[in-house]
Amino acid sequence: MKHPAAIIIHGGAGHVTKYIKENQAAYESGLKTAVMKGYDILLRGGTALDAVETAIISLEDNELFNCARGSALNYEGKVEMDAAVMDGSKRKAGAVSMIRNVRNPISLARKVMEKTNHVYIAGSGALQLALSEKLKLEEDDYFITPHQEEEYRKTHKKESIRTILKKFIGGTVGAVAVDCKGHVASGTSTGGEVNNLPGRVGDSCIIGAGCYANDATCAISCTGDGEFLITGVIANSISKVKELTGCSLQEACDRVIHRDNKGVKGDLGAIALTPGGDMGIAFNSERMHRAWISPDGHLHIKIYKE
Ligand code: GLY
Repeated sequence: MKHPAAIIIHGGAGHVTKYIKENQAAYESGLKTAVMKGYDILLRGGTALDAVETAIISLEDNELFNCARGSALNYEGKVEMDAAVMDGSKRKAGAVSMIRNVRNPISLARKVMEKTNHVYIAGSGALQLALSEKLKLEEDDYFITPHQEEEYRKTHKKESIRTILKKFIGGTVGAVAVDCKGHVASGTSTGGEVNNLPGRVGDSCIIGAGCYANDATCAISCTGDGEFLITGVIANSISKVKELTGCSLQEACDRVIHRDNKGVKGDLGAIALTPGGDMGIAFNSERMHRAWISPDGHLHIKIYKE
């Protein structure tokens, strides 16, 4: 049986800022381009994994989003990126963290999954893999945009190293897709949080926290404040609620984000999709950049709550 294809992407959850308002049309256009590129792969019979990687590369190459080009700068004013992918049909995953100079960390995460026996490779070892797989590299300057430099300067001036440990500024991109064979996949990529300590690793590359996919339940990609997404094991929790209660995926997302993690002092957002095309989108923040093409083929783009 041919399954109807569908895809959801996100471009980060957090506060509404002047910068976001001023660039709303460009954000919407970036979301549209990315979701259409992913959907086009699905329409041509491609895999959910290819669709997820393609959509995320489009967001990684767009300097508006906090990942790859456009990454937040850490306390030392440097970029360190995390990413993960998971293939729900095989329950295989690949993840990378503390990545520098690799143009598309999502593709490196996929190389970890497909070319090694590991799930997770960090730092210089990951760079070695990128070199041996001939992935595109960029100079440091490529990743540092004027907007993120300004954010860094504003935040860095105000914060001592002690206060940074208590402060969170979310970002991230992600995608989930179901292909015409009914397989799901997910991917997540981030530049971390503005001014975070060097070596800090967020949820995006942690399987079960910011990324998870399983054909038996659903695919999930998260965004928001990584520390809470990790301790709440948010992606896996949504999958488990779906599996154990048999509720709709929207109900599973709402329960995990709005009930089980009610009172959490950070931003949490998730997008999720089942092999049958059931969708779930939930966030507790002021906004979550998101776009999706549902199994009926309709395109939706949103930033704010309704
Ligand atoms: N959600 C992205 C991060 O906390 O790094």
